[in-house]
Amino acid sequence: MTDGREQTTAPAPAAAEDTDRQPLRDRINSDSLTTRRDYLRIVAIVSGGLAAGGLAVAAGGLHRHGDSEGSPKAKRVATVIGAGESVAFRYPGEEDRAIAVRLSDGSLVGYSAVCTHLACAVLWHADRGFEGELHCPCHDGAFDVRTGDVTAGPPPRGLPKVVLVERADGSVWAIGTARSGESLEEGLCRQLLKDYPETAREIGCPGAPPLGEERV
Ligand code: FES
Repeated sequence: MTDGREQTTAPAPAAAEDTDRQPLRDRINSDSLTTRRDYLRIVAIVSGGLAAGGLAVAAGGLHRHGDSEGSPKAKRVATVIGAGESVAFRYPGEEDRAIAVRLSDGSLVGYSAVCTHLACAVLWHADRGFEGELHCPCHDGAFDVRTGDVTAGPPPRGLPKVVLVERADGSVWAIGTARSGESLEEGLCRQLLKDYPETAREIGCPGAPPLGEERV
């Protein structure tokens, strides 16, 4: 069971990481992600609607969540997340604060936990708003938990998303990010196209290379 505390995962050797990642890729493939429609179904499963900072970030002063062009390594962020619970974690890098939330209807959502105003920590409050709220206490900024969009306060844009998947054993994994203003589909495809073009083609990413033209 998760207790809502930040979870960390010790760095693993490259071979072990590849081993960890393979089951996820296998799952993606085994879910018959051969059409765009199927991909969108997975996106819906992933986050109920499938990882930027404030002025300092815009000015290049801080690392920007989701800046990676390539595919971040998959990372287990929780053994399980119950309804109404949240888990804080770091993804895609160890300096990237992120948060995963299980909504009351079972949907999983993941976001950067760095406020897009001045980079304070964004927190989950299950008792705020209609179905809970992502809130920044520094200047009372608020974000829609289903979309990451700004609902109150000074943040200039929504929260970047973290692509989450739930495995059969209930564990929750982060497998990619999407920038502010980018859909989960766009973010995931941007990263897959660079490192896993064959998978990008299988799930129907726009711009994926035709069969036989994948990078060797
Ligand atoms: Fe979050 Fe200002 S830093 S609202």
